[in-house]
Amino acid sequence: MELVFSKWVFVFSLCCWLIFSVAVAVEGVHGGSKVRGVNLGGWLVIEGWIKPSLFDGIPNGDMLVQFKSVTLQKYVSAENGGGMDISVDRDDASSWETFTLWRVSELEFQFRTTQGQFLTCYGNGCSVSATATSASSTETFQIERNNNGKVHIKIKSGTYLQATMDNQLTADYPGTPGWDDNAATFEMTIVANNLHGDYQLANGYGHNKAKQVLEKHRNTFLNVGDFEFLYRHGINNVRIPVGWWIAYDPDPPAPFIGGTLEALDNAFSWAEDYSIKCIIDLHAAPGSQNGMEHSASRDGTTGWPTSFDYISQTLHVIDFLASRYAKHPAFLGIELLNEPSAAEVPLDMLVSYYKQGYEVVRKYSPSAYVIICQRIGSADPLELYQADIGSHNLVVDLHYYNLFDTFFVNLSAIDNIQFIYKSREAQLQALNGANGPLVFIGEWVNEWNVTSGSQSEYQDFGRAQLEMYNAASFGWAYWTLKNDRKHLDFEWNIRNNYLRLSSSEKKVFNSLRWLLLASICFYQCQILELVENWI
Ligand SMILES: *[C@@H]1O[C@H](CO)[C@@H](O)[C@H](O)[C@H]1NC(C)=O
Ligand SMILES: *[C@@H]1O[C@H](CO)[C@@H](O)[C@H](O)[C@H]1NC(C)=O
Repeated sequence: MELVFSKWVFVFSLCCWLIFSVAVAVEGVHGGSKVRGVNLGGWLVIEGWIKPSLFDGIPNGDMLVQFKSVTLQKYVSAENGGGMDISVDRDDASSWETFTLWRVSELEFQFRTTQGQFLTCYGNGCSVSATATSASSTETFQIERNNNGKVHIKIKSGTYLQATMDNQLTADYPGTPGWDDNAATFEMTIVANNLHGDYQLANGYGHNKAKQVLEKHRNTFLNVGDFEFLYRHGINNVRIPVGWWIAYDPDPPAPFIGGTLEALDNAFSWAEDYSIKCIIDLHAAPGSQNGMEHSASRDGTTGWPTSFDYISQTLHVIDFLASRYAKHPAFLGIELLNEPSAAEVPLDMLVSYYKQGYEVVRKYSPSAYVIICQRIGSADPLELYQADIGSHNLVVDLHYYNLFDTFFVNLSAIDNIQFIYKSREAQLQALNGANGPLVFIGEWVNEWNVTSGSQSEYQDFGRAQLEMYNAASFGWAYWTLKNDRKHLDFEWNIRNNYLRLSSSEKKVFNSLRWLLLASICFYQCQILELVENWI
């Protein structure tokens, strides 16, 4: 009798465990498991580093520049970062001496200071000042270059700027300067030219050419064959970055180019064909939530948190996407905002947006996953667990890279793997156990800052990451499907056996689990009968 009883307890616990481990699988995901996803990065939101050739046809796309007068040997400076007259009196260049170029055409530019004002000049004879709050023709200058980094700058009327003996910048150089040492010649240093996103692409090519380039890219970068590839390798999800202008398709505000909506529709139907679920990820919000190219920032600034108009426009975009896709069989959820900057986006503002976004999605779906991304920079994702954003099917997205931070620069292969087991695991366990939103590693990659790692070292790194990230309660998504840098390219990793997903083992394991469950239940019924007979 005792023996039978303890057996019964054992069988009952085993049953509970099996039912529970099946129940923690993410609702609606193929294969009765968690999300095993791949990002479709660089497709509907452009990132120059993923496919640099998209920018090959744009001359003079430079961004941050400094100017030094060749006669005075002093830098052009916007004192206090803007708000007063420009002077040419600095021996060294730092932020006040650095200007962001707003490209108008191949030769014409507007100059923005660190405080956000534009250089302005009313016409011939003016003293240039950094006092305009917006830019139009009196803020537009033409830059002529020779190929030794020297430039002349002229205003619309054709008059050239010069650095005067009393250190002013004025539009009164007589005639046309040569490239000798004269007051109208400056050395231009390009400090950074690192933004290559949708804004730069469309603005750089102009509407018609940009439309051609983007149509071709959107139609060829990926296709239904990639979904078949993902399916075969056990991937059950794609996370699809989109830009805010998708809600204004087919004619979004300039310079953005329509067509992403049709492409997203295609992705949904390809996904459906292969039992893959889609997460729509708002990667670029109006005004930019992090200043980076992948948020379509115009010049590296983060405008999103500076205006309630941007935030309500963003909620409109979420409403548009939720209403359009909530009932689609391939729809899994919406990510409200990718990678808001911790330095620029205050937590209370973000939490308020996330709460409203959650309600917007709930208008159209009681059960879609609503995904909120951690702030990037120095912020603890726990801040989102304490925020009470939504009660049901809420997911926090963390991005785990052993890259993009000097911390990883000199680590060995072993160090990198140790970091996964120690640091990442500790955080994942804390969050998994935090009785709040589910945890999603929405971006990670099988790349590190180890030079010349061997194939087997990469395999070890990939295995360690998969082992850890499989433990995340919602699942994970690899960054990214395709990339010019092959180690970040998911398909390259799989084809070249740098990353092993062991999808078939997973499937067999899942089937075995169900079989075991069935036979135990059967066995349990028999025992119950036996017990009843005894009573
Ligand atoms: C990495 O190592 C090199 C060579 O020892 C050193 O010069 C550099 O400062 C180190 N970088 C970091 C970020 O630790
Ligand atoms: C690796 O570190 C070096 C030195 O900081 C950096 O220049 C390089 O971009 C890093 N590579 C990657 C892939 O992050």
